[in-house]
Amino acid sequence: MLTNDQLSQWDRNAFFHPSTHLAQHARGETPSRIVTGGKGVYIEDRDGNKLLDAFAGLYCVNVGYGRTEITDAIAEQARELAYYHAYVGHGTEASITLAQMIIDRAPKGMSKVYFGLGGSDANETNVKLVWYYNNILGRPEKKKIISRWRGYHGSGLMTGSLTGLAGFHAKFDLPLPYVVHTEAPYYLRRPDASMDEAAFVAHCVAELEALIEREGADTIAAFIGEPVLGTGGIVPPPAGYWEAIQSVLERHDILLIADEVVTGFGRLGSMFGSDHYGIRPDIITIAKGLTSAYAPLSGSIVGDRVWKVLEQGTDENGPIGHGWTYSAHPLCTAAGVANLKLVDSLNLVQNAAETGAYFLKSMREALGGHANVAEVRGEGMLCAVELAKDPGNRVFFSADEKVGPRVAAEMLKQGVITRAMPQGDILGFAPPLCLTREEADIVVAATAKAVSTVLG
Ligand SMILES: Cc1ncc(COP(=O)(O)O)c(C=O)c1O
Repeated sequence: MLTNDQLSQWDRNAFFHPSTHLAQHARGETPSRIVTGGKGVYIEDRDGNKLLDAFAGLYCVNVGYGRTEITDAIAEQARELAYYHAYVGHGTEASITLAQMIIDRAPKGMSKVYFGLGGSDANETNVKLVWYYNNILGRPEKKKIISRWRGYHGSGLMTGSLTGLAGFHAKFDLPLPYVVHTEAPYYLRRPDASMDEAAFVAHCVAELEALIEREGADTIAAFIGEPVLGTGGIVPPPAGYWEAIQSVLERHDILLIADEVVTGFGRLGSMFGSDHYGIRPDIITIAKGLTSAYAPLSGSIVGDRVWKVLEQGTDENGPIGHGWTYSAHPLCTAAGVANLKLVDSLNLVQNAAETGAYFLKSMREALGGHANVAEVRGEGMLCAVELAKDPGNRVFFSADEKVGPRVAAEMLKQGVITRAMPQGDILGFAPPLCLTREEADIVVAATAKAVSTVLG
């Protein structure tokens, strides 16, 4: 697989890849892939491989690859006006239209959209807005943010702190102060096997209450969470979790940030995960599915309660001291408009619900009975297969055995991309929302074969 041509050489020589074992890559010990094209749910590489991408890149290419409706919109915008900023009231037809399209699709009570470039910077914006909000309200001590272990919210300084995965903290001196973590709503890994779902939700609530009590509610500004835990393992919440958590937050006047970078725009089979689970957020983070990654764009959707205070703040202090050069970049917002139109015209939200349910059911039928499958779980077009040494007793494999990555490598040999999730032996699936049943069958068959090749 390793080729020693010019591009590979430059790759080892000059390219600092994210989330990569840098030393092994530089020494040429790991395979690299040079991707050249994509169509529908497939990508192609320079060596002529055609791979079914069952993770849609990084769960972002929701409409699938090669959509000319979006590439044409980007090209047209580039010819007309490639760039102008959005400071002091400037905009373009694309940025204004996209903001309105987002508000039209967002859960009730959402007021305005601030545009960024990626999920990390959007969450960075959200933390600043929450701090500003409490300063304007005269509560400068109310600043801490509660996040969950296994939550993923980015890899910046503050957002890497919010992320509840040890690999994103170690040796970076994170988490920063102001961030505190609470229990992940991960039923399979509940502390006591005898707990039913309701008892486990009560446990999550008790943990949250204890944390608030310990820190003091008057020091806590917000709680951030993904409707479905993503990078932490693709874990839908137990029934009743969000309602119970929200009632605690409301009681303590703690804002709720729904990080919908993965779940926004249809992935769960609803336009937003907040609608799917009855979440009433103050701020929603969006990225990925907003443009299906045809151009980098994120957003912070600010709800009425926070917006009113932001307006009050600028009346008292002048223009808000926050902005990026590329906020609402015309090429990206043009991609967003074309993408959301496609999501509608191709009925992708409905397909995520229907084909996603078929995919999950087929995966359960094919793998649920395997002696090393602890759980097959999912929601909409998200699915995970968690592997364990002894599922009945919840004995997991040790990380050194690299069971998840070995199964993913076997699947790759069959032409299917899955993601070995970073914490645990969990195969993650988040295909483009346009996946067909026939394509779902291919993914399920490849998974079953790979699991039996590695684990018998
Ligand atoms: C829920 C969630 N929030 C934030 C981010 C960070 O987004 P980005 O990688 O675009 O900075 C991600 C990325 O996977 C994510 O899954």
